[in-house]
Amino acid sequence: MADTLTKLTYQTFQQSKNYFGLAHKILSTRVMSLVSPSDRKSKPLPLDLLQKINQRYERLLEVDWQDAEAGVYPHNILFDNPWDEFFLYYPAVWFDLPQIWERAKQKNYQDFDSNLDIAGYPSYYLQNFHHQTGGYLSDLSANLYDLQVEILFGGSADAMRRRILASLKQGLSDFDDVPASQIKILDIACGTGRTLKMIRAALPKAALFGTDLSPAYLRKANQMLSQIPGELPQLLQANAEELPYMDNYFHATTSVFLFHELPAVARQRVIEEAFRVTKPGGRFIICDSIQMSDSPEMEPAMTGFYETFHEPYYRHYMTDDLVERLEKAGFENVTAEVQYMSKVLVACKPV
Ligand SMILES: C[S@@+](CC[C@H](N)C(=O)[O-])C[C@H]1O[C@@H](n2cnc3c(N)ncnc32)[C@H](O)[C@@H]1O
Repeated sequence: MADTLTKLTYQTFQQSKNYFGLAHKILSTRVMSLVSPSDRKSKPLPLDLLQKINQRYERLLEVDWQDAEAGVYPHNILFDNPWDEFFLYYPAVWFDLPQIWERAKQKNYQDFDSNLDIAGYPSYYLQNFHHQTGGYLSDLSANLYDLQVEILFGGSADAMRRRILASLKQGLSDFDDVPASQIKILDIACGTGRTLKMIRAALPKAALFGTDLSPAYLRKANQMLSQIPGELPQLLQANAEELPYMDNYFHATTSVFLFHELPAVARQRVIEEAFRVTKPGGRFIICDSIQMSDSPEMEPAMTGFYETFHEPYYRHYMTDDLVERLEKAGFENVTAEVQYMSKVLVACKPV
């Protein structure tokens, strides 16, 4: 009975975030089209596709719950949500909307305030991904990011991130002669640190590392991660194409929602770097968007995504062969599994 209640509580908790995201999307689109009419009209998705998306969503919640039941991570992480941050920054999401809308209307994709230091970043990175104010480079962007992602995915972003954890723990069992506190895991492009938080919940003793190009996002990650128990993850600003670590340093590497935001050449370089820094016998686990090869029926949703949001590399990503890229870098036994709007690729570095 208690179990059923908790599962029901989890489903209700998720559904409420889902409805909130939906309500925000409908309301904000209505309000903005009244305040600032535009010819840009996104096509509504057909009903049968929406039903399929909903089925995938329910399956994601089920798998998420089952992994907690199996002890991959504690149940309390299922309910983790930065409510105080969300309440604090929700008004700012609205205040930011007119600028986002205007940028989208003007097709202005490289709009950076003069007070932001944009020197030294790869040119592909200097974009207003999702029309975000400040791209990935401002504190405002870092403060709003998690809330915006939660709205986009109807509160399921962490549930998708958690899909890397079962394979991560399973892979680490090959290093059972290594004390738990000496297991080293790197999260590449860690952003605001949500994935590191999920990894910490599953592996309380491991030494965690995170890199990202954005100083603002790293500051945000540091602030959040310093509030949770356990050793503070070591965060470094670095381009994922040139990781500042020795060869064979990590027992596992992960990367969540990065690859669809990279041009093809950078995608390959990041995979090669992940291969270099992962120990033989270790795993590199990617969680990113679904693709045409695994979800052809979702094509209208994927096309709608890159047409509505500014995602300059997504169109190429949709048909890119990530398995081939991973094998080309030297990984083997690559598996891929779709979960809701994401897929998880697990790649092993040969011993
Ligand atoms: C969509 S966000 C994903 C962030 C985080 N992994 C998550 O799950 O929310 C993409 C992240 O990749 C980072 N990024 C993009 N290109 C990068 C690169 N070449 N090297 C390092 N980080 C990069 C961005 O700064 C941003 O934090």
